[in-house]
Amino acid sequence: MNRRHFSRLLLAAAGGVAFPRRARSITRPQVRVNGSRLNRLFEQLRRVGRTPAGGVERLAYSEEDRQARETVMGWMREAGLDVRIDEAANIIARRAGSDPDLPPLLAGSHIDSVPDGGAYDGNVGALGALEAAWTLADEGIVTRHPLEIVIFQNEEGGLYGSEAMAGRLTEADLDQVSQSGRTVREGIAFLGGTPDRIRNAARRSGEIGAYLELHIEQGGMLEAEGMDIGVVEGIVGIEWWDVTVEGFANHAGTTPMDGRRDALLAAARFVEAVNDIVTGIPGRQVGTVGQIAAYPGAPNVIPGRVTASLELRDLDAERIQTLFRRIRAEANAIGERTGTTFTFVSRGLDIAPALTDQRVQGAIVGAARELSLSFRLMPSGAGHDAQSLAALAPIGMIFIPSAGGVSHSPREHSDPEDLVNGANVLVNGLLGLDGMVG
Ligand code: HGY
Ligand code: MN
Ligand code: MN
Repeated sequence: MNRRHFSRLLLAAAGGVAFPRRARSITRPQVRVNGSRLNRLFEQLRRVGRTPAGGVERLAYSEEDRQARETVMGWMREAGLDVRIDEAANIIARRAGSDPDLPPLLAGSHIDSVPDGGAYDGNVGALGALEAAWTLADEGIVTRHPLEIVIFQNEEGGLYGSEAMAGRLTEADLDQVSQSGRTVREGIAFLGGTPDRIRNAARRSGEIGAYLELHIEQGGMLEAEGMDIGVVEGIVGIEWWDVTVEGFANHAGTTPMDGRRDALLAAARFVEAVNDIVTGIPGRQVGTVGQIAAYPGAPNVIPGRVTASLELRDLDAERIQTLFRRIRAEANAIGERTGTTFTFVSRGLDIAPALTDQRVQGAIVGAARELSLSFRLMPSGAGHDAQSLAALAPIGMIFIPSAGGVSHSPREHSDPEDLVNGANVLVNGLLGLDGMVG
């Protein structure tokens, strides 16, 4: 028995649940998803792009991505949803509401992955949203608002699908080369979108009633505290830069140590400096150099050039800028000392931090309470499509525990019971919002 089950038993034995339940009349049907169907679909989907280590590699705009999308669209049609692909290649599966004049409630996530990733990131929320709509169909429950189940394209590359829905994709964004090697423009066409009409995918503020996303926590807080559900208060901002270090390539044998302009030595000191600067001030900010390459890349040549990535995240956009200014200043000082030069080019991924909506938080909390699930409010250190939509509509996110807090790894895991808990909170949260917004 794991810690969470034990703590829940203990609490139940004590006649309470993790959070005292207010006596309240439930004015709407309480719904339970079909947990075996949800986990069955999850196990089928994880086979598309499965890696030998049991994870998933389903890079945006890859064959695996396209195949997984086709699979999910088939299930959406089976669930009676009206499925289309928008101009940005987002999958939109619609279920009519009783009042067509109301803006739709959206729920969804992504099914593309990072290289050598896990099976749960994005997929849990995408399938949880499908299961929510399928359950409502099974139960014959018609919401007031139309429902739209959305699979956003290329979330991992930079929230491209949801940024397109927010009307923020630029021509430069479309020319970015994705992890699969296709440009975003080529990828959107490959997945059935029409990049030349990307503007048509944009929604205006007020055209969406609310957006609710179920996702794995990708951190270890819920597991460590034995909590079932995370109610996200805010999502961090993210900025990416391409870093280039120019030195001087030369013979590794005949060039004395004090006569070198070694770009990789400078880059190594830069990576250390990023860590020192980011950890040098109090707060939950994070900084990462996730990609690095040395040229020409031979054992007997002093690297003349290095390309690297720099990523900074925090709930406070100003703090990201302050950290970047300090990192760039230190990089220039390293360049002085090593005879190299550093250049930083923003990769255009400047995703603003986003706070979730109090009413949506309330709907999530209400559902967790009705389901007697323990929950806590918490931030998201990971970026999500929800933050792209925050400018358009009230957003909310539901987290389920990640085993060991591991994510973006084949070792990513959440218990089948947690997938069901999350989907139950999602469907009942949507029903709560249906009565609340619009
Ligand atoms: O990188 C992220 O935070 C997200 O998983 N795309
Ligand atoms: Mn994700
Ligand atoms: Mn991710």
